[in-house]
Amino acid sequence: MARRATAADLAIDGDRLLRRLRELAEVGADPRGGRTRLALTDGDKTARELVVRWLTEAGAAVRIDRIGNIHGVIQGLADLPPIATGSHIDTVVSAGAYDGCYGVVAGIEVLQTLRAAGEVPRTSVAVLVFTNEEGVRFAPDLLGSRVIAENLTLEDALVSRSSDGCEIGEELQRIGFDGDVSPGALRPSRFVELHIEQGPMLEAEDKAIGIVEAVQGHSWWQVTVEGVANHAGTAPMALRHDAGAAAMRLADTLIRDAAERGIPNVATVGMITFEPGAINVVPGRATFTLDLRDDSPYALRRAEQRLHEALLRLDRAGYRTRALCTSRHEPVAFDAGLCDVLEQVAARQGLAARRMLSGASHDAQMMARVCPSAMIFVPSHRGISHNPAEHTEPSQLVQGAQLLLHALLELANNPEIHHAPPAL
Ligand code: HGY
Ligand code: MN
Ligand code: MN
Repeated sequence: MARRATAADLAIDGDRLLRRLRELAEVGADPRGGRTRLALTDGDKTARELVVRWLTEAGAAVRIDRIGNIHGVIQGLADLPPIATGSHIDTVVSAGAYDGCYGVVAGIEVLQTLRAAGEVPRTSVAVLVFTNEEGVRFAPDLLGSRVIAENLTLEDALVSRSSDGCEIGEELQRIGFDGDVSPGALRPSRFVELHIEQGPMLEAEDKAIGIVEAVQGHSWWQVTVEGVANHAGTAPMALRHDAGAAAMRLADTLIRDAAERGIPNVATVGMITFEPGAINVVPGRATFTLDLRDDSPYALRRAEQRLHEALLRLDRAGYRTRALCTSRHEPVAFDAGLCDVLEQVAARQGLAARRMLSGASHDAQMMARVCPSAMIFVPSHRGISHNPAEHTEPSQLVQGAQLLLHALLELANNPEIHHAPPAL
């Protein structure tokens, strides 16, 4: 008589994981070989419907909350708060196939593996799919997890307006994801997010797994510089108030500052526009986005101070400047005890792991306000992400999902060891 498989023997279906990742990667495919599924667009709607179908196939009870987060839960034996995992399926423009999607599809794979094996954990296990993590179409980013973490009211989130003039509440209705469940309905006792590293470290050190101990802080700005539009041929250089040149110099100064400060401090100008926008007109107005990040709250504030000092200098030189902060996170430390558990399970799985910081923001940093949270990374080839060339080896994707399965089982089957009432 074959020995009944024990929880330790459980293995995910790697082919199903990889097949679903490929299928999801096709949704919103764009001509640059990437996919663009900005939050609450038709592409996001299609991806959401796919994920709800897979959660249902996995035997999960599926509910949608009032900010459009998708909750998939399989019941445990005890009436205790669930162990949760999850991530996002909205993308940046021309994204890779794995950012966010990997954590969601792997979470669904864990639920389906448990159900197929008839393995009922002590506590329930939940997968959360968060609305508007990327913050490209709507501000702020991490929107769905912020509402769960009460870092943003549901009312304010619903009236957030996109760059193309749409309101979140209306868009949720339009795509049929205006759920009726309170975003705080599901209060997990632990949250673990599985994600690609989106950086070069794991591959460089030939490590299979990153145990993420903290996420660096970030500060996003919309900066406007007003000068005087003028004739490109007749206006002497010394008499110009060229808003475009002033903005480019300011951007270059901030980027050089970050480069001089060194890792992990970074500064990025992702978008810049000049008005009126003609080859022979000195720009009268320039608008650019600024993404400042650092793992030190002081260094982050110092970088913001340098921005304001530079804007003041431009004001004194006859320009008019404005700077609007559109998103800001202090650095977040994850739960040390939970990181220890993840490290022990990785060791049991024979996976080479290292502790690390996340340069990217993630929903887990908001869930850390709800309950002890942490993250698991798998390598990104050449550290590339937010780019169609984003790649992780299939074997590494399967390994990470297998680790997630056993980490969630360890937490769900040993609540007395790992269970603490959710943070009030
Ligand atoms: O911007 C970030 O760090 C993440 O991709 N939302
Ligand atoms: Mn991203
Ligand atoms: Mn992400």
